[in-house]
Amino acid sequence: MNNFTFENPTKLIFGKGTIAQLATEIEKERRILICFGGGSAKRNGVYQQVKEALKNHRTWEFWGIEPNPDYDTAMKAVKLARENQIDFLLAVGGGSVIDAVKFIAHAIPYEGDPWELIVDNTLVRRSTPLATVLTLPATGSEMNHRGVLSRRRTLEKVSFITPYSFPRFSILDPEVTYSLPTKQLANGVVDAFMHTMEQYMTYPDHNLLMDRWAEGLLMSLIEIGPQVLLQPHDYDTMANFMLCASMALNGFTGMGVPQDWATHRIGYELTILFGLDHAQTLAVVYPALLRVLKQHKRDKLAQYAERVWGIQFGSTDEKADAAIEKTEAFFQQMGLHTRMSQYGIPAEAVDTIYNRIQARGVSYGENLLVTPQVAREIYQNAL
Ligand code: NZQ
Ligand code: ZN
Repeated sequence: MNNFTFENPTKLIFGKGTIAQLATEIEKERRILICFGGGSAKRNGVYQQVKEALKNHRTWEFWGIEPNPDYDTAMKAVKLARENQIDFLLAVGGGSVIDAVKFIAHAIPYEGDPWELIVDNTLVRRSTPLATVLTLPATGSEMNHRGVLSRRRTLEKVSFITPYSFPRFSILDPEVTYSLPTKQLANGVVDAFMHTMEQYMTYPDHNLLMDRWAEGLLMSLIEIGPQVLLQPHDYDTMANFMLCASMALNGFTGMGVPQDWATHRIGYELTILFGLDHAQTLAVVYPALLRVLKQHKRDKLAQYAERVWGIQFGSTDEKADAAIEKTEAFFQQMGLHTRMSQYGIPAEAVDTIYNRIQARGVSYGENLLVTPQVAREIYQNAL
């Protein structure tokens, strides 16, 4: 087991009718900027609930944070916040709104060029308090210190990690998910599944509790995934989904374990170059990554096959193969494609992506297995 420090200061407020608690969770004297996406919050009544709860607070609004939030959009909110001496940020939305708000919070008091904060996260030494009302279970951003920002102008999608990004509190009312389109539900299940896999599917590490927690999350997501698509208005189904997604990336399954994250990192390329949703990139890259790295991950794949998929017979190799097939089939069952060609992405993309990763000179994954050359093999395998 690796050494680790665990801290998660985010208060989780979970259940029906909890948006009303905004009234007491945020101090009366705060000047609050509420940030939203493109309008779903107005259509499903979440906006009205938030406004009602904060009717005795001073609030400003910023609308239009897009999926895969853009630096330039976030900077417009920074300007608005500075002009109005905002001292509290409330994100109402999915991972994109929350991630943008994390960046906005850090950029408000920063005196240099705010992009520097993304390039060197240690420059974040002050921030603005933030909280969230989550409307889309997927990223875990509501309870973690991560964020991902895109800069379309320069074709970059970059993640940033700083303890200042933990929300003070997050409100999770499963009823607000009833309005989610099928595509976003499927994306959310696959993203949460992949967050668990990235912290689990490496090599046997004798971390008994982390393995069991991860396996519990994976089994829960496999069980509720199809139900989420079939009965998206069932409270318990959506409550389970919401809880799983938050627990999948809040540090609880990551204590002392080796971690991978290569699929996430190389998958960003498919979003910034071809506009795929985040989870769509994961469903394309991951089965290919497992096929390419099967020998390295074989023993853990066999453990996953046995414990999560109940595959008891066969050699270690056969179990590993079966586990990869099951994983790909699960993504397909959720309605996601698992090949680049299914999105119309041409074969030349493999070299384009390879050249970009090569230019960065970085490798990813546990033991840095995914060199630019291996990333190329994975993309070739995913065509
Ligand atoms: O913009 P609006 O109109 O609100 O519509 C959104 C958006 O179009 C819609 N939506 C959200 N809640 C809804 C709803 N529609 C109906 N009813 C509701 N209740 O859903 C669409 C997608 O929203 P978005 O926030 O983009 O999705 P998601 O939560 O999947 O976030 C994706 C972003 O998070 C990053 C991704 O890379 C991507 O940029 N990630 C962040 C992580 C983190 N901070 O820890 C980890 C992840 O691995 C991920 O990389
Ligand atoms: Zn993700």
